[in-house]
Amino acid sequence: MEHHSRGTFKGSFGFVLAAAGSAVGLGNIWRFPYLAARDGGGLFLVVYIILALTFGFAMLTSEISIGRKTKQSPLTAYGKLSKRWGWIGIFSCVVPFLIMPYYCAIGGWVIKYFWAFLTGHGLEAAQDGYFSGFITGQYEPLIFLLIFLAACAIVIFNGVEKGIEQFSKILMPILVILVIGIAVYSLTLSHTNEAGQTVSGIDGLKVYLIPSFKGVTANKFFHIVVDALMQLFYSLSIAMGIMIAYGSYVPDRSNLSKSINQIELFDTVVAFLAGVMIIPAVYVFMGPDGMSTGPSLMFVSLPKIFAAMGPAGNIVGTIFFAMVLFAALTSGISIMEAVISSFMDKFKLSRKKATVIETAFALVIGVIVCLGYNLLYFELKLPNSESPGQILDVLDYISNYLMMPIIALATCILIGWVLKPDTVIEEVTKNGEPFRRKKLYTIMTRYISPIFIIVILLFSLGIL
Ligand code: PHE
Repeated sequence: MEHHSRGTFKGSFGFVLAAAGSAVGLGNIWRFPYLAARDGGGLFLVVYIILALTFGFAMLTSEISIGRKTKQSPLTAYGKLSKRWGWIGIFSCVVPFLIMPYYCAIGGWVIKYFWAFLTGHGLEAAQDGYFSGFITGQYEPLIFLLIFLAACAIVIFNGVEKGIEQFSKILMPILVILVIGIAVYSLTLSHTNEAGQTVSGIDGLKVYLIPSFKGVTANKFFHIVVDALMQLFYSLSIAMGIMIAYGSYVPDRSNLSKSINQIELFDTVVAFLAGVMIIPAVYVFMGPDGMSTGPSLMFVSLPKIFAAMGPAGNIVGTIFFAMVLFAALTSGISIMEAVISSFMDKFKLSRKKATVIETAFALVIGVIVCLGYNLLYFELKLPNSESPGQILDVLDYISNYLMMPIIALATCILIGWVLKPDTVIEEVTKNGEPFRRKKLYTIMTRYISPIFIIVILLFSLGIL
């Protein structure tokens, strides 16, 4: 009865798509291609894939298994495993609570651009100052924030199976088709620059795929590994409470290890394709130095590239921002669900009540985040970035750079040393399924992942 009221995924397929929906997000699209272009193309890809198959796999396995084993939200799951380690649960609920409002603010920006391209105003979006003009505006960002938040809330309101699972089953396949379509289009591009050279999409693809060892010293290689590690951590939605919440809805009969492989594959393939989509297009129109990261890639450089494509640009831009919106929505939903499941399990609230309360919180904090670009503007130097940060960056820093590594490290210690890896292995092999990377899982969780996470933490603090 209790399980029934919490909700469950109908099957493994729905779970995989929902979890992949969470994993595939803005990180895949605006950060992965940038890092690959900066960090030696194919070299970064190889490092990333190796880390995904080892570190990413182990972390994902731990979190999803904790969820299914305890059938609890992130806030309450850790306490059920061990009273003394219950504090990890509080951290795991605070992180999605902090991320949700600013993710909605960014989701709102995506809707704004989608709308601009859809209504044929792509050229305006390519003009200098368009993005800063928009985010510093007083009302517009608030309206788009509200639309994004409301969309997430409506899906969650409908429950796990009828809301999250159904929505992911529709959106994720469309997303894959759109990504493949844009990637293929990007490869067909070609442009003659001012120097009279014709650059093609295939030239850009080569830059992306062929490993480049130019200027790769031991120190630079170390940085490439850390970049890949931090990207992976974020991209798989680890340490955000999400995978515990989603894991808690997985039916006992599902084959966990198979699902985990599929989620990882999905996330990595989409990240890879995002590179095929973006790097050749940037390379053709802006040359090798055109790549930038974060908001400026998506909201400043890409609109310029769409404009350079001529009449096709408005259509490609519309499809592109629709795809980004789908990716952002399924991630937004997952981060909101991590908080809502926590409210439901801890305070015994109904899904509807918990959704209303979290929506109100996210709205108030989200408005404050938007006001951070006008009324509440300040400039703060943060250890993780050269450029000064606003409220959004502060929330991002506290959650992503400080709290998440602490959660991940504590999870490794709890599972690896206090409870022992068998706790998770038993859960994964509950129905007699094979667990081929069992040894690897144990070694990663006990020894190697903690070292990786400490390195991430030291980087975040600006020590390394
Ligand atoms: N995995 C997501 C991404 O790559 C990260 C994320 C998930 C962020 C959910 C917020 C909410 O973008």
